Order: sequence, then structure tokens, then C-alpha cells
Amino acid sequence: MRKPIIAGNWKMNHAPAQAATLLAQLIPLLHETACDVVVCPPFVSLSETLSLTRGTPIAVGAQNCHIEKSGAFTGEVAPDFLAEMGVRYVILGHSERREYFGETDAFINRKVRAALSCGLIPIVCVGETLAQREDGVTAELVSYQTRAALAGLSPAQVGSLVIAYEPIWAIGTGMTATAADANTVIGIIRGQVRKTWGDAADMIRIQYGGSMKPGNAAELMAQPEIDGGLVGGASLNADDFAAIVHYQAERNA
Ligand code: PGA
Repeated sequence: MRKPIIAGNWKMNHAPAQAATLLAQLIPLLHETACDVVVCPPFVSLSETLSLTRGTPIAVGAQNCHIEKSGAFTGEVAPDFLAEMGVRYVILGHSERREYFGETDAFINRKVRAALSCGLIPIVCVGETLAQREDGVTAELVSYQTRAALAGLSPAQVGSLVIAYEPIWAIGTGMTATAADANTVIGIIRGQVRKTWGDAADMIRIQYGGSMKPGNAAELMAQPEIDGGLVGGASLNADDFAAIVHYQAERNA
């Protein structure tokens, strides 16, 4: 019922020339896909990525945006600018932005609203640190982060967006949550959405992120609650990213 969505988060990698090289390898591998596919390059490579992916099944996302439409915010990028360019998605509240740039839940909520107001689809990241997991507060934390990020939205808005559950200890570490564990936490997030926004819980797509790779994508994607993946490291390799997108073929192989 929910169409799977695989998004590549390139993080601070691939300026335009390298972006073009990766896309030249990737595009022929993604002619036909059973899921929605998104690539999220750095701001400076959005133009190149948009022009190279035009007419392909690959949509383009940004990795961040500001809360205002314009103004004296040196170095920031308004969501409206992204929408005007043809960007469709924007990653918001990634744990690296929370940790290194001090983004709070309240600020992320304002970003989510700003992005939705100009037609972008937010990919909202939530997830716990290893210490929080060991303290047994994962469920409470991701529930809180979900409520805070989506506060004030209508059920239709909530149903239209994407959440990425990314346990912080699994990001870039090679450690992956077990498929069952990821499924359980994503079920908790969906339950939280249902409590406040009712049936939007059946529409909202919730991805898993954290060391997703060709070797574990099929098992993760087979879980009933997991609707996709937010892929960091493996999205920088065309063969690996394509193998994740084609996880069903990998499963049947
Ligand atoms: P990773 O990153 O796949 O390299 O663990 C995921 C993310 O941070 O979005």
C-alpha cells in the first residue's frame, strides 16, 4: 500500500563534477524501479543533479533548508529556492545537524512546516544514541522526537511526508540495527503518529537508516513497518545504491 522509498544522503560529498560522474554510473542502473528513488547531493551540486536526472525515475532532495523565505540569514538556503529549482524532497533534523549544528526539535518543526508550505516533502530524521538505547529510552525518545517534529501539522500533511528512523550508533559505523529491532522501533513511531494523526499513520512512509547496504537491504525491507531506506555511505557507490534500490531482485536471487 505504501510505495517504498530509497533515498541516498550524499552528505558533504560530491561537488558537481563528482556528482556528474556518480550519476552517469547510476542512471543506467535505475531505468526501472519498483520504489521511489531520491538522491540528496550537497546544495552546490543540486543544479547539476537536477539537469542530469531530468526524465529519469530519480527525484532530487536537499539535505537541509532554512525556516524563512528570504532575508538576512547569511549562508542559509530557503525552502522556496529549492522548490523553484525543482527539488522535491528535503532531509530535515539529521542527527549530524542536531549534533554539530545545534538543531533543536522546535527548530526542526519550523523547518518541516516551512518545507511543506512550499511543496517540498520533508524526510524527517529521528533516532537514539547508543547511551540512550542502553538506558532503555529509545521508545520514549523517538516518540517525543516524532511528536515534536510534526507538531501542528494536519493529518494530510503528516501522511504526505517521510520519517527516517536512524539509530545514531548505526550511522556510518557498519553496525546495523537488526531488522526486527528496526521494525519494532518504526512500529512505535507509527503508533505515535496514529495517536495524534489517526489514519495518516497508514500513509506516512518510515525509512530505516544506518549502514544500510546491499547485503542487509532485502531483510530490512521485508519488515512490515519499514517503508524504505535513507542510505549514506552506500549511496556514494553506484552499484551498491542500485543494488539497494533493487532489493527485491537481490532477495529473489
Ligand atoms: P550511513 O548513513 O548509511 O552511512 O550509515 C545514513 C545516514 O546518516 O543518513
